[in-house]
Amino acid sequence: MAYSDKVIDHYENPRNVGSFDKSEAGVGTGMVGAPACGDVMKLQIKVSADGVIQDARFKTYGCGSAIASSSLITEWVKGKTLDQALDIRNTHIAQELALPPVKIHCSILAEDAIKAAVEDYRTKHAS
Ligand code: FES
Ligand code: FES
Repeated sequence: MAYSDKVIDHYENPRNVGSFDKSEAGVGTGMVGAPACGDVMKLQIKVSADGVIQDARFKTYGCGSAIASSSLITEWVKGKTLDQALDIRNTHIAQELALPPVKIHCSILAEDAIKAAVEDYRTKHAS
């Protein structure tokens, strides 16, 4: 299977790889796995007091499409509010990266990971 140029670019130069300290204020962590292939994606957001995502990090143990999907979504969420981040659909990612049908679940993983990160943030920072 041939990867698109955008997948290869994100795979070779992944943006925002790494992690934040989970206990740090403003950090939300989402960890999801893909039952289809056993891959795991961890995605973290750092949110400012006014509810805007300042920064994001990811670690993905998976295929090139999963790495590219998580790299792309960490770029997309920066500067967005939590609700705007929740509006990102896997179809947007799949379209941007020109993912073939067998790799759609990799983009779903990224959508699920950002949702989980927002939920974790909201749970931790509910007052
Ligand atoms: Fe596991 Fe994609 S099948 S890396
Ligand atoms: Fe399973 Fe990409 S995450 S093949």
